[in-house]
Amino acid sequence: MATDVDQELQRAKLRVEELRAQLSYHDYRYHVIDQPEISDGEYDELMQELRSLEEAHPQLITPESPTQRVGGAPVEAFGIVEHRVPLLSLANAFSEEELRAWHRRATGLAETESFAMVCEPKIDGLAVALEYREGQFAVGSTRGDGRRGENITQNLRTIRSIPSRLSKQGLPARFEVRGEVFMTRAGFERMNQERADRGEPLFANPRNSAAGAVRQLDPRVTAERPLDCFIYALGWAEGDATPTSHWETLEWLSELGFKTNPDSARYKSIDRVWRHCRQWAEKRDALDYEIDGIVVKVDDLRLHETLGVAGREPRWAIAFKFPPTQRTTKLLKISVNVGRTGSINPYAELEPVNIGGVTVKMATLHNEEDIRRKDIRTGDTVIVQRAGDVIPQVVGPVLSKRTGKEKRFRPPRKCPACRTKLVRPEGEVMRYCPNRDCSAQAFRLLTHFVSRGAMEIDGVGEQLSLTLLQAKLVNNPADLYFLTKEQLLTLERMAEKSAQNVLDAIDASRGRPLGRVLFALGIRHVGSETAALLAQHFGSMEALAQATQEELAAVPSIGPVVAESVHGYVRDKANRRLIEKLQRGGVRMEAEAPATREGPLSGETFVITGTLASMSRTDAETRIRSLGGATGSSVTRATGYLVAGENPGSKLAKARKQDTKILSDEEFMALLRRHGAA
Ligand code: IVH
Repeated sequence: MATDVDQELQRAKLRVEELRAQLSYHDYRYHVIDQPEISDGEYDELMQELRSLEEAHPQLITPESPTQRVGGAPVEAFGIVEHRVPLLSLANAFSEEELRAWHRRATGLAETESFAMVCEPKIDGLAVALEYREGQFAVGSTRGDGRRGENITQNLRTIRSIPSRLSKQGLPARFEVRGEVFMTRAGFERMNQERADRGEPLFANPRNSAAGAVRQLDPRVTAERPLDCFIYALGWAEGDATPTSHWETLEWLSELGFKTNPDSARYKSIDRVWRHCRQWAEKRDALDYEIDGIVVKVDDLRLHETLGVAGREPRWAIAFKFPPTQRTTKLLKISVNVGRTGSINPYAELEPVNIGGVTVKMATLHNEEDIRRKDIRTGDTVIVQRAGDVIPQVVGPVLSKRTGKEKRFRPPRKCPACRTKLVRPEGEVMRYCPNRDCSAQAFRLLTHFVSRGAMEIDGVGEQLSLTLLQAKLVNNPADLYFLTKEQLLTLERMAEKSAQNVLDAIDASRGRPLGRVLFALGIRHVGSETAALLAQHFGSMEALAQATQEELAAVPSIGPVVAESVHGYVRDKANRRLIEKLQRGGVRMEAEAPATREGPLSGETFVITGTLASMSRTDAETRIRSLGGATGSSVTRATGYLVAGENPGSKLAKARKQDTKILSDEEFMALLRRHGAA
């Protein structure tokens, strides 16, 4: 028996050492040279495994263990800032159980029945500390190792959301706020594009991108990068005239002019906190910056004292981490398929990898230009990303994993379906198959035509599309509208009832709005939004077909590339025949009366303050807008209603002063219910 235990301890010891070596290597790549080779989620998993081994065998814990400290060696070149109060780290919870366990423990230690908690998005950026002296921004620093960070004042001065001076009266003479510098998704994409153009290694995620930007030695370079900053805490303040709860601190900071996160919320129960975490795991992609979890903080600052800190992690806070959306895996093969417009689309065949609960075997590679710029090769270890419903994509290769055996992609010269020689229009990044009768194109166009956002012909899926094409009952989408029951009944496994269902579904699509019809045609560069714009502007297919290229380009939001594509499409004889046939088949070619955004709340402006019990602020604002109302962030003369949740702050006082109508949380909910938006 004793030997079993010994053996198990021995095994654990070996694994612990292995994990520590791996973690310290990845720490260096991530924090020091900003070039990670595994995803954050994979890092977390290694750390988690080490933690559980150490928990099971406390005798293996050493002071050097990565669980006992947090990475980030400050770089001397910037000058060092000693943090007056250390910047702490956060413990993670990866499941509902772990979140509840944290709460139980805190409740026990706090010796109280319940306490309020604040939930904030956990932004994937870089922690900074900003010191203000006499209302002026004086010193800005990175977190570094928590005690000593780098002086990046000059770089932080380039970020517009960081106020350089505060105008409020009665400020503490000196104080420090803390927050997260981050880059928006769009800014991140743009930066990576530029790096790829210069042949530089790509940043794996916005966090690295923001870190790279903030730690530029030349502030002019930082200034060109689209950085932003949310403030989430008061580090320290001289004097004691500061709020006593975290929520009030956030409101106070916001009143001083700092940018605080509008999607923060305060709750009294862990059930509500859990619901909030679950909801944000779904909604995270709606934000224009990346979040990797929700930070839950005990609201009452006196309780922070009681609960204290364990190692570097306060017991009064926890980070609920979402399932990772990035993973590394092997790129087995680069293949291509033919799109509905004849475009040749490269995609990656991957060693299957589980990302956030879904097994990913394929990912898009956009186009050959992108593959070349990012230098993605067959055999590479690549970072793969999956976000919401979006098709998984290959972010880029992990260059340090190259063995030399990787192969560059050789784009095909001939269409993989019909062997026609491909063409590449000048200035375009895609190659196309120019053959109108290409079977692959016909199939993709037909499945696109019947799909959800297009004509939405539910009865005709991929399988039936293929069967119809193979049986030559349909050669192009317009043929659908001339199908007879007799024809359908000749197909295998097609009975009377299913044939009728197919015909009914086709019939129902005849009245779809013009924008949908335009989108369904699969015109190159015309997505559903562009199609809707064109439909609204021209009102009929006839008017659109008569428009000159200049007239098309003059439509707001329509660029020259789209104008040329649409013009080319409607001038083409074969396309004209298709449109005419659709019309003969009974498809409506006129726009409906312009859609109005009128609603029961039209003409009213709403401002929300404090926490609402049943939904986040963003959610509430979306519902107001769906009813035709407008939303604002501060109370002005134009404000019709102030919705006051829990702990409303100064907006309520202002609204009272100018007699703005004030709605309680319940009254607001009742209003939404009345209009069917609750
Ligand atoms: S609070 C003890 N709030 O997460 C308090 N941190 O893993 C520690 N972070 O270094 C910070 N969003 O870089 C806090 N709303 C938020 C945050 C946040 C992102 C980062 C921060 C910190 C890391 C801890």
